[in-house]
Amino acid sequence: MEQLRSKEKLRDWVGQQKQQGLRIGLVPTMGALHAGHLSLIREARQHADVVLVTLFVNPTQFAPNEDLDSYPRTWEADVAACESEGAAALFAPEVNDMYEGDASVTLIEDRLSRGLCGRSRPTHFSGVLTIVLKLFNLSQPDVAVFGEKDAQQIRLIRRMVRDLDVPVRIVGAPIIREADGLAMSSRNRRLSPESRQEALRIVESLRLAETALAGGERDPAQLRQLVHTHLERASRGTVDYVELVDDESLEPLNSAIEGPALLAVALLFPEARLIDNLRLLPDS
Ligand code: PAJ
Repeated sequence: MEQLRSKEKLRDWVGQQKQQGLRIGLVPTMGALHAGHLSLIREARQHADVVLVTLFVNPTQFAPNEDLDSYPRTWEADVAACESEGAAALFAPEVNDMYEGDASVTLIEDRLSRGLCGRSRPTHFSGVLTIVLKLFNLSQPDVAVFGEKDAQQIRLIRRMVRDLDVPVRIVGAPIIREADGLAMSSRNRRLSPESRQEALRIVESLRLAETALAGGERDPAQLRQLVHTHLERASRGTVDYVELVDDESLEPLNSAIEGPALLAVALLFPEARLIDNLRLLPDS
């Protein structure tokens, strides 16, 4: 596996792949890789000839009060994991290589980014879209794979690709969970044993809603309340949001669920903010 530590090295590598007519599959990450990330690499291999993983803790998607400095960094293990999953190259640039000191152009999305995580993280998705577009421009992938764990993020990326005619196919991959159901996240490793135990309420609450829906409950307010009540019992966690939105537009649902809906939650622990979601299909 090639380790590409600068944009220049990446451009050379991309040129070589293109010259050989190889299709590039891109998997953008911020490192501290876990089985969720690795599933994306495997997915990308199904759609491309060579897989490029990127590892960059992108400062522009963190607000000043967020955890940029303490974001977990596990370089050696990440390199080994990418290698053993069959990635062809790993791009891991320095911040000052990715961003000019006086960089002044940023992508802003005005609709899907307003609610859910965007409400408490108003600058986050602008940072995400900007870095993802830069990674697309640099690596010219045929396919890029993103996880449904970050449901709002992948919908925003699809919207960017649609609205800016970016020549890449976006593939979504399912949420990978720990054996007990907690959605895998680089931030899980920070949780104290007590918070880790209480974090299980997140997946439990989503499953309660799924069961209620299967039992005929279609009222979004009732379903949200059910989830909220279960989450509130986590004494160390504070509910950031519980939202039931249209799966595509991400607009909050106010009347009986009829089509695909997204139930999304964020729970704030002292050590980390955790998110999870479930797609609800009323007819299945
Ligand atoms: P990061 O949080 O490292 O996630 C990288 C990719 O892994 C994202 O597509 C995310 O949805 C996916 N992922 C994370 N946990 C997952 C899980 N449990 N199951 C399946 N997929 C999972 O998301 C980012 O980084 C950044 O915002 C990035 C897109 C790299 C831009 O900086």
